[in-house]
This record gives sequence, structure tokens and C-alpha cells, in this order.
Amino acid sequence: MFLTTAKSASGQENEEALRLSAEWNIRFEPRKKRSFQKWLRETKESIYVVGNDLDKLYHPDYSQAFLFHPSMAWIRFQRLQQGGFDPMIEVMQLHSGMTCLDTTMGLASDSILASAAVGEKGKVTAVESHQYIAHLVRKGLNHWEEDDESFNKAMRRIDVRKGEHLDLLKKLNDNSYNIVYFDPMFDHAIQDSVHLAPLRQFAMYQPLEKEAIEEAIRVAENRVVVKSTYLDSLLESFGFMYYYRKGASFSYAVFEKGERI
Ligand SMILES: C[S@@+](CC[C@H](N)C(=O)[O-])C[C@H]1O[C@@H](n2cnc3c(N)ncnc32)[C@H](O)[C@@H]1O
Repeated sequence: MFLTTAKSASGQENEEALRLSAEWNIRFEPRKKRSFQKWLRETKESIYVVGNDLDKLYHPDYSQAFLFHPSMAWIRFQRLQQGGFDPMIEVMQLHSGMTCLDTTMGLASDSILASAAVGEKGKVTAVESHQYIAHLVRKGLNHWEEDDESFNKAMRRIDVRKGEHLDLLKKLNDNSYNIVYFDPMFDHAIQDSVHLAPLRQFAMYQPLEKEAIEEAIRVAENRVVVKSTYLDSLLESFGFMYYYRKGASFSYAVFEKGERI
């Protein structure tokens, strides 16, 4: 793995690349107008490319770069604006002023939708354990422009944290977020989104840990929501209820906190 810049890099991008190279302890290689496909073949290493507004991450076994794109979030946001329905927002029962901790940020589509739903008075914190993904997505959220200012503001408001969700959950007080959300389902995510596909090469693959669920139940004031493709005996043992939707390839498992205390 090494770092470089986009072809037309400014002094600012070069500075950012050098700073990240020190922070991540990986080498910096000047771009010198090289083609990425050729460079990947020669080095067989992943390449993190610092761009002006958006970064890219190449993997030697995958020709398509991983880059930030709010594709699904933008489609879901427009559907909601037109009075439509979003199953994640429904099961979370999210509304203005609420707080949501997204423990598996990825490309942040779910975080963006949650941020739009809770509005300026609410708060969304998104955790990502992969440091390259966390940086790339945070930069994308801060710079991507769609034709809707409320969507852009929803992206900018997300508080991105780099790290393991269990470490963060352990530091949080009881009932400190209305909703704690997990989306650990890679297979489904990969099938669903061409933009998420390159994430597969880089993202973390651990299954959801029992301790993380216990901590999430402690930290959530209203409910814990887990996106899931199949019945999970661990979630069932905690008393999660599954919300199936006709024809859908995934469901949500929900632990209602209020009803159990
Ligand atoms: C399926 S993706 C999430 C997709 C996301 N919901 C979206 O809308 O784009 C799961 C993400 O969680 C991250 N992840 C996995 N385990 C984690 C952990 N223990 N702590 C923080 N992030 C984790 C992975 O690196 C990956 O980027």
C-alpha cells in the first residue's frame, strides 16, 4: 500500500498526501503522470490517491477504484422528499431532533439518510474501523455537491469517527443515542451496489460481536437496529424482532429498549 496524488495535484494535495503518509506510516510516491492500471500491475500494491475534493483507493486485484458516491442515499432521499417510504427510517422511527450512532459507516448511505431525517437539531455519528475508508468517506461527505442544499447539509453534519465501534460504545454513557445501528452485511451490500463493490477489498469482515450488541443495548435510548439477511441466533437470543418486507432481500432486526426496561 502506498499513497500518491491525482495528476493535477496542487500544493495542498501534496501536503495532505505527505501528512497522511506519516500518519498511516505508508510511503508516498510522486504521481509522475503514471497510469494506475499499469502501476497496479507493476507494484501489485493498493494505491490511495489524494485528490482535490475526492480521494480514490485502488486495489491490485480490482480495476474499479473505491471512491465516495452518495448514489443510493440520493435516490432514497429523493424518494422520501416525494412522500415515499424508507424501511430503515421506518424501523428506526427516526424524526427531527433524534440522535443516531451508525456503528458501520462504509460509504455512509445509511448515515446520510439518518442525518437528513434527524435534521439540524439531531445528530448522526458514524464509525468506521478502516482508516483509509474513514478518511476517504469523510472527505467525500464534506465536498460532494448534489442539487439539494438540505442533502448537502445532511452529509456535512455527519460526525465521522475512525475506530472500532466496540471501543467507542464502551466509552459512551447509558442511553446516549436514541438509535444504535449496525450494518455488517457485506454480501447483500455488494450485490446491491456497484459503488460498494470495491469496498469488499478493503473493509473489515468480523461478525457482530456479542459484547458490541450488549454495549449497543446499554447505549441506545430507544432501539438498536441491525440490517440482516437471515435470522441470527445471537440477535434472537437478545430478543430482537425481525421486520420482514415482501420481496426484499434483507430485513431489519430491532431491539425495542423502551418496552423492556
Ligand atoms: C456493509 S458496510 C456498511 C455500509 C453502510 N451502511 C452504507 O450505507 O454505506 C460495513 C462497514 O462497516 C465497517 N466495519 C466492520 N466492522 C466494524 C467495526 N467493528 N467497527 C467499525 N466499523 C466496522 C466495514 O469496514 C465496512 O466499511
